[in-house]
Amino acid sequence: MIKFSNDFIWGTATSAYQIEGGHNADGKGPSIWDSYCTIPNRIKNNENGNVAIDHYNRYKEDVALLKSQGFKAYRFSISWSRIMPEGKGKINEEGILFYSNLIDELLKNDITPWVTLYHWDLPLALEMENDGWLNPDIADYFEAFAKVCFERFGDRVKNWITLNEPWVAAILGYGQGVFAPGRTSNSEPYLAAHHLILAHAKAVKQYRTNFNNQKGTIGITNNCDWREPLTDKLCDIDAAERALLFFIGWFADPVYFGDYPQVMKDRLGERLPKFTEEEKELIKDSSDFFGLNHYTTMYAAEDDHSGITGSVYGNGGISEDQDVILSQDESWPLTSFNWAVVPWGCYKLLDWISKRYNNPDIIITENGFACDDKVENGEVNDLERLDYYKQYLEACNKAIADGINLKGYFAWSLFDNFEWASGYSVRFGINYIDYKTLKRIPKASALWFKQIIKNNGW
Ligand code: GAL
Repeated sequence: MIKFSNDFIWGTATSAYQIEGGHNADGKGPSIWDSYCTIPNRIKNNENGNVAIDHYNRYKEDVALLKSQGFKAYRFSISWSRIMPEGKGKINEEGILFYSNLIDELLKNDITPWVTLYHWDLPLALEMENDGWLNPDIADYFEAFAKVCFERFGDRVKNWITLNEPWVAAILGYGQGVFAPGRTSNSEPYLAAHHLILAHAKAVKQYRTNFNNQKGTIGITNNCDWREPLTDKLCDIDAAERALLFFIGWFADPVYFGDYPQVMKDRLGERLPKFTEEEKELIKDSSDFFGLNHYTTMYAAEDDHSGITGSVYGNGGISEDQDVILSQDESWPLTSFNWAVVPWGCYKLLDWISKRYNNPDIIITENGFACDDKVENGEVNDLERLDYYKQYLEACNKAIADGINLKGYFAWSLFDNFEWASGYSVRFGINYIDYKTLKRIPKASALWFKQIIKNNGW
């Protein structure tokens, strides 16, 4: 019997660019994703988020769906360039109105908003005129944007997430170049990440200093897969630990301890920027909870330089810097995204985080499963996805029973949506989208969630 506590936070998540559409509606400025999608062959089938699933116009219908499916919390992100079309300066009141209405609609339906301030859609003007995340000034621009959000929405929003997955923004955006802004470099990811961390910390300080009376919580969401040592050889055990430090330690160590992991400093030398003493103070303890996006697990082994190298994509960092080779076990089932289903990896990661960061409150802000859903007789029987959720939630439940402070869980995603470089070809939703009519069709997993949320377990 699986039972969660009555105050466990049950939610589902989305992000602005992936669902909203309305890419130039009502004064919104372009973001780096709007522009990246116009470069031929960067996105599967050259698709884009111009219309996406038209949440911008259908948000009321979508909140009604959330409500009917029993969710108590909803995580969405704010498009920076909808609020500030040029990234700084002028505020677009119509953009404010959209989010204000969405928040009111959620509250009216007893759904708690969890708001992400940055889910990768940087205002294009900041990229073109200011070098985006490579420029240290970005931290101040982000802080100013965050301040507008606290001022305008903070009376009603009590749960803030500064950044979603800075690892992805840095590695895929500046290392491998497969996400906007599409740059490739072996040093820029470390610089971009440095500024992402400072931007997060400045926004948190702004919130804690000037919006204390709003009595909310604020944190950061990082992503991490579990890394299991391929063998019990000491060098592979070390490689797995190192891979975790290059992956989540890169961002969580500064947030909890004020500085990067020693192993990163040792291996990266000058390529890893340094925090000043003042910055260390600013960053340390800058998250009220540990936001975690977790999907999968890989084996990690020491790279003996025999010729096979790990790929950069999905590798937890730049492979040469880590000397880690990643692999999957043939017995692990794969999603259509080729991510392996390994629920015990979720347990082990929660345990690792708890031990390293002194048992923080953890919120899983994303976890989910991609498969090739089909509509049959008006229904989508996504039993594999449902099974994935069941197994991962069992792992979460075991973690809680063992004393880990896991406080909430958000399924990724409320809907099928624009899956970045994969376009609309990959489906992660618990609600199916018919992309011709944009009709929302609940999948079996959504109906299952309704039951378990009602009973806090099954
Ligand atoms: C996360 C990301 C989401 C979603 C998901 C599935 O990395 O935050 O936006 O795309 O992965 O790939």
